[in-house]
Amino acid sequence: MKYASIKGTGSYLPEKIVTNDELAAMVDTSDEWIRERTGIHQRHRSADGEGTGQMAEAAARHAMDAAGVSPEDIDLIVLGTTTPDRVYPATACQVQARLGIAGCAAFDVQAVCSGFIYALGVAEKFIRTESATRALVIGADVHSRLLDWADRSTCILFGDGAGAVVIEASDEPGIMSSHLHADGRYEPLLYVDGSVADGYDAQSAGPAVTRMQGNEVFKVAVRTLGRIVDETLAANGLKRQAVDWLIPHQANLRIIQATAKKLRLPMDRVVVTVDKHGNTSAASVPLALDTAVRDGRIKRGEILLLEAFGGGFTWGSALVRF
Ligand code: UT7
Repeated sequence: MKYASIKGTGSYLPEKIVTNDELAAMVDTSDEWIRERTGIHQRHRSADGEGTGQMAEAAARHAMDAAGVSPEDIDLIVLGTTTPDRVYPATACQVQARLGIAGCAAFDVQAVCSGFIYALGVAEKFIRTESATRALVIGADVHSRLLDWADRSTCILFGDGAGAVVIEASDEPGIMSSHLHADGRYEPLLYVDGSVADGYDAQSAGPAVTRMQGNEVFKVAVRTLGRIVDETLAANGLKRQAVDWLIPHQANLRIIQATAKKLRLPMDRVVVTVDKHGNTSAASVPLALDTAVRDGRIKRGEILLLEAFGGGFTWGSALVRF
């Protein structure tokens, strides 16, 4: 059985930046409250008409450049997103067409903020079972399109963006393990209004906007991410000191700090982008990874713990020798 290893990373952020002060002019909030309670200073927002497919393509091209491969070398595309450009076809198929390739499997994975970790876990299994040799794994979301701009408890949190990696079959790990979980009973704490079952544009369905009981989600997230750290280390027979970098989902700086504390990792070994990106949902982990690879913090051979938690609830992790 082969392993899968990360050959290159890439990301894309829309040009427009939205500051906390701009949001404070729209809803009853303040820069101070947002910074203190979330760690967010700003987020990016995609331009009108700029959707998940376009952002995903840009991130994918950067990852392929970093890996030194071209679109024809790719034989699998797995895209984590909750904001596909259309209900169908899958945005992964659109990305495939934009890259000018055809024939390989391409599909979306919907696990909200855990979307990239899920996509990575799935793609890794294709490579380990020798069903693919070189995969594009992408996390991309335009969560700004799913917000109620009058709801101060959610509209301040999210940003848009995309991140991607190229993973390839190798004899050495690579991705040492991946762990995926879900518990659908938590739907009432975090969901999007509106339903295809009611008719996509039915009046009764209401607008498709995010509804979240933030502090309940917060508590479960901290607990669950603590557990997944233990599970990931145990699966590899490693102690927490083995981890060089934590690359967490970027929802709230206080959640990130709690997971770092669990690992007893100083914050200078934790990649934090939530201040600049906000919560970019499925894009947050690969965006953070690419940021720290490109600025030289993460080096080849180091051990990375990637983790995420999101709507579903879903959660997951991957331990990677980079
Ligand atoms: O990525 C997927 C998973 N999502 C998450 O992980 C998000 C997890 N949750 C959180 O990050 C935090 O719970 C929030 C940032 C959403 C909220 O922070 P909190 O410290 O849990 O605040 P809270 O919901 O307990 O609300 C405390 C107070 C309330 O006012 P009262 O009832 O005490 O008068 C809220 O109405 O803060 C108020 N509030 C705000 N005030 C100013 C809520 N949002 C805002 C706001 N500005 N934007």
